[in-house]
Amino acid sequence: TQTLNGLAAAHGRYFGSATDNGELSDTAYTAILGGGEFGQTTPGNSMKWDTIEPTQGTFNYTKGDAIVTFAQQHNLKVRGHTLVWHSQLPGWVSSLPAAQLQAAMENHITQEATHYKGKVFAWDVVNEPFNDDGTFRTSPFYNAMGSAYIADALRTARAADPDAKLYINDYNTDGMGAKSDAMYNLVKSLQSQGVPIDGVGFQGHLAIQYGFPSQMQQNLQRFADLGLDVAITELDVRMVLPRDATKDATQATYYNNVVKACAAVTRCVGITIWDYTDKYSWVPNTFSGQGAALPWDENLAKKPTAYNAIVTGL
Ligand code: XIL
Repeated sequence: TQTLNGLAAAHGRYFGSATDNGELSDTAYTAILGGGEFGQTTPGNSMKWDTIEPTQGTFNYTKGDAIVTFAQQHNLKVRGHTLVWHSQLPGWVSSLPAAQLQAAMENHITQEATHYKGKVFAWDVVNEPFNDDGTFRTSPFYNAMGSAYIADALRTARAADPDAKLYINDYNTDGMGAKSDAMYNLVKSLQSQGVPIDGVGFQGHLAIQYGFPSQMQQNLQRFADLGLDVAITELDVRMVLPRDATKDATQATYYNNVVKACAAVTRCVGITIWDYTDKYSWVPNTFSGQGAALPWDENLAKKPTAYNAIVTGL
């Protein structure tokens, strides 16, 4: 039978879905997640700093390991997400004196990347370093080290796991614009300094009411032309609720456009949707009044419009 991952794999790519620990006890859910539609997963929360190192120097890999175990049992490759991010940080990181931030960051990366060595094929080493206007986002790391924290994080990750593909990942960089220009310039500058960087992740959190990103294929291609892998890492296409046939049709064109943009770029290695079902989507909790963002509905039924639009694009 035809599957999303099977169609992607015919072109050397993967099609994956994020997941989370609570969902793994939902057997109807796991039957689909592990049933062949997907060839890759990303833990939605369980490898983030607040989960892994809630207290300085105390590491708890239980939740991340559970995702890895499920993935290994069902032939899903794992993208590690994420080592350095301003959000979902434990309080102790934000409270550290600036002079201690670099050592704490390096230790976190070294410990976590070493633990998952051989179990993840890629890491989002740095997540969301930019503001929407292309300036660097304030964070404990940026405040302590300036933008040099990015190079330091990448070098530290490479030393811990030389085989993992190292990514910088961000949102609202899917199309051409100030933010993707900033990412492009950052990556070029890292490369010119010999900093290890293998890929750029484009989250792909889209909303039909905001329009489709401009020139997505060309944008992906300019990063690929730097010798990098690119990936769509957190795709979902939300709408203002309630769902209707018109919105579903627009959503389907967005899914189709994203999949086609990736398919047209040889170095686009794969696509991950940010969970596959509205039952477990982050959207309604984050964007009030919005949802219905994924190709399976809250009853785990495929939405033919969105699903077929993905199939057609692959
Ligand atoms: C989201 C998770 O899906 C939610 O469960 C959590 O409450 C907040 O984070 N960009 C990212 C992801 O890189 O880590 C975020 O995941 C969604 C936005």
